[in-house]
This record gives sequence, structure tokens and C-alpha cells, in this order.
Amino acid sequence: MMLLKFTMLWLLVFCLSPSSSSARPAPYAMRISCGARENRRTPPTYTLWFKDFAYTGGIPSNATRPNLITPPLQTLRYFPLSEGPENCYNIRRVPRGHYSVRIFFGLVPHSDFEKEPLFDISIEGTLISSMKSGWTNHEDQVFSEALVFLSDGTVSICFHSTGHGDPAILSIEILQVDNKAYYFGQGWGEDLILRTAARLTLGTRKPRFDEDYSGDHWGGDRYWSPIRTFGHNADQPRSTENGIKQASDAPNFYPEALYQSAVVSTNSNPDLTYAMDVDPNRNYSIWLHFAEIDATVTGIGQRVFDILINGDSAFPDVDVVKMSGDRYTALVLNTTVAVKGRTLTIILRPNKGHAIINAIEVFEVITSEFKTVLVEVKALQALKNALGLPHRLGWNGDPCVPKEHPWSGVDCHLDTTTNKWFIDGLGLDNQGLRGFLPKDISKLRHLESINLSGNSIHGTIPSSLGTITSLQVLDLSYNSLTGSIPESLGQLTALRRLYLNSNSLSGRVPAAVGGRLLHGASFNFTDNAGLCGIPGLPPCGSHLSAGAKVGIGFGVALSLLLLVICSMCWWKRRQNILRTQQITARAAPYAKARTNLSHDIQLSRHQNHGHARTAAENGPSLLS
Ligand SMILES: *[C@@H]1O[C@H](CO)[C@@H](O)[C@H](O)[C@H]1NC(C)=O
Ligand SMILES: *[C@@H]1O[C@H](CO)[C@@H](O)[C@H](O)[C@H]1NC(C)=O
Ligand SMILES: *[C@@H]1O[C@H](CO)[C@@H](O)[C@H](O)[C@H]1NC(C)=O
Ligand SMILES: *[C@@H]1O[C@H](CO)[C@@H](O)[C@H](O)[C@H]1NC(C)=O
Ligand SMILES: *[C@@H]1O[C@H](CO)[C@@H](O)[C@H](O)[C@H]1NC(C)=O
Repeated sequence: MMLLKFTMLWLLVFCLSPSSSSARPAPYAMRISCGARENRRTPPTYTLWFKDFAYTGGIPSNATRPNLITPPLQTLRYFPLSEGPENCYNIRRVPRGHYSVRIFFGLVPHSDFEKEPLFDISIEGTLISSMKSGWTNHEDQVFSEALVFLSDGTVSICFHSTGHGDPAILSIEILQVDNKAYYFGQGWGEDLILRTAARLTLGTRKPRFDEDYSGDHWGGDRYWSPIRTFGHNADQPRSTENGIKQASDAPNFYPEALYQSAVVSTNSNPDLTYAMDVDPNRNYSIWLHFAEIDATVTGIGQRVFDILINGDSAFPDVDVVKMSGDRYTALVLNTTVAVKGRTLTIILRPNKGHAIINAIEVFEVITSEFKTVLVEVKALQALKNALGLPHRLGWNGDPCVPKEHPWSGVDCHLDTTTNKWFIDGLGLDNQGLRGFLPKDISKLRHLESINLSGNSIHGTIPSSLGTITSLQVLDLSYNSLTGSIPESLGQLTALRRLYLNSNSLSGRVPAAVGGRLLHGASFNFTDNAGLCGIPGLPPCGSHLSAGAKVGIGFGVALSLLLLVICSMCWWKRRQNILRTQQITARAAPYAKARTNLSHDIQLSRHQNHGHARTAAENGPSLLS
């Protein structure tokens, strides 16, 4: 049995390993068919699409695809605004690495189907793209794609409503690429994201994925938009069946077929000009692909051209055969440019012969956003559950980024020493919250202000609130809080405003809290079940402080002692009287004299205190 298993495993490994000598494992690949209930394999490549999972909300639906290049998937998931302004796919257990992340959009077959939704897409908190109206008519706009480094084992892909229809997602692909893929030299790093702005294959009419080209899986299954020509009479297509050398090399592993078609400029129009619309004031990384596939060019020096980007010389005197080392050999040139205007223009200007080009890639270079401290994200998620936050508030993805779409009710601050965002304010007043306050709220330890006024929050005030030392404003008024005010709130030395009015709180306001408030902070404790103990509130009844209890105990003990002493006196006196009566019976004269004396002294005492006293002190056993 064991042996059989082992043999099968060995066979499996053997079968899966590529026929080439390369020992590199297959790259990680996760493809999700949104809205699908079953895993699927779609022709022609029979790629595996996982059934829908890892979403934060939304509704599955049959898909209407813009009839362009979308993968042949039948379903989608859409996110109506009632499900919140931001929804995400949070995919876990993604190995640390460099990835091509691609999202295809769909259309919900609804009544208002004519309307294309417009929304923003972010990956790991960084805004990748904002859809532009008319996207359904442009094949390179029916998806959004970016190269990102993922380091924490998860990837969060979020869709942010902008009030123009419901985001509808057809598919999500997370495909591992080489760690150095699209390395462009200085400035390149793991904090950068490269958004695909254009990816063109020239001199062909066929749109192609790398998979269709049987490209290396480490290439990330790029989609190549076909441009057969740059314009009428501007160029001529060229193609070849010959093999191309150095095409599928690390780190980018381009498919060989990419270099088997090209365009060449003409006599009437010597410059080859490609222009595209871009967002202004961004940096773009431009990748140009060449291979000499024209049979008429046989050696070095027969075709030489300059490459200008937005008028500036980017690559002078490009001689493809010379630079690639041979004919039918791939040459890739890359450069990064800052674009101020709205157009990016690439011009190939021949010095000798005609210009040639096989493919063009343009990426927008985006700096990744810093993220929110994980502990605080988790604390907010705990708060979301405990308070029963309504869906419409969203609260998916990162609380603070993208900066254009922070969570509502959350104020963020960037710590420039750690490059992490933290939460310094929580404003969820009048949101119809019906839950309770979790003790984990104290993990938001940078909070300066909390306003949860005007909800129906029940339960007690967690004493952990007293550990948020930066807290200046705490407004929990107009809720249904019960119990007493925790002693710990007395530790909040920065507290300036404390509003607990209109709840069902009871008990004594802790002395430290009361003391602080009397020193200039503003507060309101009115309209509660029974708070007491500071000026303006009723005095505390049964609820006594420890000091009061000691005082009362002491008082009671003293009274008891007095009582005992008094009764002893009374008893002794009674004894004396009894004894006197007995003695009188035997020696009356002496006793009578003594009684008289006592009587005299008492009289004089009424007349003159001082004398009486002296007399009394002198008198023998006068008071006994
Ligand atoms: C989706 O399409 C399938 C067949 O393709 C159909 O059976 C099903 O009723 C459709 N569902 C909806 C919600 O339109
Ligand atoms: C891109 O160009 C830079 C220099 O401009 C070079 O260092 C780098 O290796 C190139 N990248 C690739 C993948 O060829
Ligand atoms: C473009 O790149 C330059 C140099 O690397 C950098 O200083 C600048 O901030 C970048 N601009 C944008 C919009 O990213
Ligand atoms: C809290 O929110 C309520 C209702 O919006 C507002 O009236 C109150 O002033 C806020 N509290 C503080 C301390 O700002
Ligand atoms: C204090 O709270 C009560 C009841 O909630 C309210 O009527 C009153 O206006 C508040 N006082 C101040 C000074 O805000």
C-alpha cells in the first residue's frame, strides 16, 4: 500500500515536471470564477477556475460579458451599494512573492444593463485604477492588471463604489511571476506596483494570452492586444514562422510567438508613431520588443533608428541585429519616464532603412500605500462585529487606504517613523448601532476621540477603555449602557470631555473621574438610572465609599462602647444605692451626712461651675 502510494506520487511528480531540464517548480496560480458554484476548466487551454470564494459580500449572477476578450466564464459577482461602498476578495495562504493580479469586469444582465458601472479597484490598499466611461468598448479596459509584491500571505483586492452603478466582477487571477520580473533598474523595488496601461502585439489581428502562445507559466499569462497597423499606409505587417532566440528568458519569459510578427515603417511615412492617453503627472515604465524578422535585412547596419518618447531621445541608434546579436533574436529595451501631460508618444525615427517593432508594453509606476497597524485593523473588525455595524458602512479592506476610500467613521494618522497608519478617531454617532462595546476597543490605543452618541449600544462600559491613555473625548451619550462607570476611566489624564448622559448607568462616579472633571474638563452625567457622588448629582445612598464605611464602622463601635460604659455606670450606681440603703439600715447618721454633702455640692455646681468642680474633685467618690 505504502509502496503503491509512493510510486504514484513519484509518477505524478515525474509527469508534472517540465520536459526541459529546469527544476523550477510551477508558479503559484489562483484563478477565481466569481459567482461560480463549481470549479471549471475552460477551453481552449482548459485552465482551472476555482469556484467563487473569499469575498466579503455581494450577489452571484449570470454574466453579460462585454463581447471582447474576457475569459469564457458564465457568472459574476456584483456588489450593490446596500452591501457597502467597498467590498473585497481576501485570499489567504498566498506564498510570499511577486504576482500578476488581474481582474476582469462584467455586466449584470439587469434592466439598466445599458449602464456600465464605474468603480475603483485597489490591491493591498493601493488604488490601481479607476474605470472610465466607455470601458465596455475597449478590450484593454475590460480588465485591470498589476504586478505586485505580496509578503504577508494574503492578498486583498477591493472594489470601491463611486456612485456609478454596482461593481460587477467576472474573475480574479493571482499568478506568480519571477521575483525580478520587469526589473527596470534604479528605483525598482518591492514597494512599487506596475499597473498595465497597454500591452500590444504588433502586425497581427489575433488577441492572445501567453497561454495561447504556450508561453512559460512564469510569465504570468499576459494578454496581448493586437494592433495590426499604426495607421493607414503608416506601416506594413511582417511575420515569420522561424524560431526566435532569447525570447523566453528570465525574468520575463516572453512567448516566442510575440516576436514572430512586427510592423515596419514605409517610405511614405518613415516615422512609426504610437500615441496613447495617460493620466498626467505619473511615471511610466515602457518596454519595447524587437526581433529582426524581415528577410530583406541580413546584417548589422542595415536598419538603424532612434526612439523618442514624448519628444526626448530614449534610445539613439537602435540596430536590432547588432544589439540582439543576430537575426531572429529577441531584443527588449526598457525605460522609465515621467509624463506631465495626458499623452504618451513613442516615435521610432529611422536613420537607415525602415523602423521595426514587435510589441509594446506600458506600465504606470505606482508607489504602494502604507498599511494600517494590523492590531488596530483586527480591533476594528472586532468592533464591527460587536457593534453590529450595518453593511452599508462597508468596513472591508484596509481602514485607512486607499486614501481616496477610507472607512467611514474612522480617522487615520500616518506614523512617519514606522510608516504605518493608526486610528486616532472613531465617529459612529447616530448610526443605529445595537451591539455592545467589546473590551478589544482598547487595542485602538492611539484613539483621541470616540463618539458613539445616539445609538442603542447596550451592556457595560468596558474598563479597558481606561488604558487608552491618549483619549481626550469620550461621548457615549444617548445609548442604553448599564452598570457603573469603571474606576479605570480615572486613569485617562488627557480626558477633556466625557459625555455619558442619557444611558442607564448607576452607581458612584469614581472619585478620580470626578476629580478630573472638576479640574476643567466638561462632562454630562445626567439622565441615567442612578449615578451619584459628584456635585450636580444626588448624594450616594447605599453606595458608600470605603472611607465612608470605615467612618461609619468606627462611629458604630464608639456608640456601642459608650452604651456599655453607660450601662456599667448605671449598674454600679444602682449597686451603690442598694448598698447605701443596706448601710443606712445599720449606720444611718453617717450615711445621711454624706448624702447632704453630695446635695450641697450639686447645688453649688448649679451656681458656680468652677467652685463646684473643685469641690466635686475634692469630694470623695462623689459621682459614684
Ligand atoms: C443563469 O443561466 C442559467 C443557464 O445558463 C439558467 O438556468 C439560470 O436560470 C440563470 N440564472 C439567472 C439568475 O438568470
Ligand atoms: C531594464 O533596463 C535597465 C537599464 O535601463 C536594465 O538594468 C534592466 O536589466 C532592464 N530590465 C530587463 C528585465 O531587461
Ligand atoms: C516619478 O519618479 C521620480 C523619480 O524616481 C519620483 O521622484 C517621483 O515622485 C515619481 N512621481 C510619481 C508621480 O510617482
Ligand atoms: C458626538 O456626536 C453628536 C451627534 O452627532 C454631536 O452632537 C456631539 O457634539 C458629538 N460629541 C462630541 C464630543 O463632539
Ligand atoms: C446633559 O444631558 C442632558 C440629558 O441627556 C441634556 O438634556 C442636557 O442638555 C445636557 N447638558 C449639557 C450642558 O450638554
